[in-house]
Amino acid sequence: MTKIAFVGFGGVGQALAEILQERKEHLDSSYGLEAEVVAVTDMMKGAVYKPDGLDIEQLLEVVRETGNVENYPDGPGVTKGLDSMATIQQTNADMIVEVTFTDVETGQPAIDHCRAAFENGKSVVTTNKGPVALAYEELSKLADENGAYWGFEGTVMSGTPALRMPVATLAGNEITEIKGILNGTTNYILTEMEKGNSYQEALKKAKELGYAEADPTNDVEGYDARYKAAILSGYLMGTPIASNDIPCKGISDMTLDMVNDALEQNKKWRLLAQVKKENGTVTASVEPQLLDADDPLAGVTGATNAILYECDLAGPIMLTGAGAGLKETGFSLLIDLIDYQRQKTKEKI
Ligand code: HSE
Repeated sequence: MTKIAFVGFGGVGQALAEILQERKEHLDSSYGLEAEVVAVTDMMKGAVYKPDGLDIEQLLEVVRETGNVENYPDGPGVTKGLDSMATIQQTNADMIVEVTFTDVETGQPAIDHCRAAFENGKSVVTTNKGPVALAYEELSKLADENGAYWGFEGTVMSGTPALRMPVATLAGNEITEIKGILNGTTNYILTEMEKGNSYQEALKKAKELGYAEADPTNDVEGYDARYKAAILSGYLMGTPIASNDIPCKGISDMTLDMVNDALEQNKKWRLLAQVKKENGTVTASVEPQLLDADDPLAGVTGATNAILYECDLAGPIMLTGAGAGLKETGFSLLIDLIDYQRQKTKEKI
């Protein structure tokens, strides 16, 4: 039995709760994952804890209808109002699903949440980029020392397995370079500009469709892709690089003329995050690059993400799929939970 506490219960957390509820039988019979949600704590939506398990359907109904999990029915063993630290430290949860609204520049409060969980021997799955981009070495060491699991598949390309796929199935190759379209907003803007829309029009549409944040600076200046490049460097290339040390240029000064000039030369602009290993040294960068129109990455359009691994034995391998979305990001947490269960039972894949 895996006892789960949700720290943060926005759209992504709720999407995972829904998946756990809908696939309960399948997750148990196919993977031995018996997940029980014992606690939820959220800055805006309150907190509820029941050591022998909350009714997920009821929990979701309460949060959807009232916006506050403290409207969950009272009853024997039900406690309300625990904050995130108390939930991590004092409940009987052994798995913390960390999906708070975190400031990616400081990585907080997610970094403190991961730290507290590991110090208490509890495992964490998270979609927050900050802890992995900014504190990978410290937190992975702490998790190891305390026998805890740390999963963060959703930090790069949400439910498209950009992290676990290479670790699990490209093992044995040396990966010499990773490059990818890791930000959906900017790829959407660039491909809209290829259809003749101005940068401003395309950005407005990206906001309307929910790809870009209300303040899209992190997207258009390349910072979001830069955090992801830092994660790839630390996790897949074994060399943590501080994201601030990664040269970064976004697409905010891209004009329709530049896009059209490229098309006339049968080329396309794409914002690429790149991590390279040369003579044992790993470097990373984020910048718009001019690609031949028949380059596989140039063919990636709209908000879709893609990543290409240059492998010394297998050659180039490309993975493409969603880079955001509630269900997709909820699924990324499920991949981690299943991996956790497999590691616990030493099941081979
Ligand atoms: N704003 C991001 C994007 C979402 O556009 O790809 C996931 O980090």
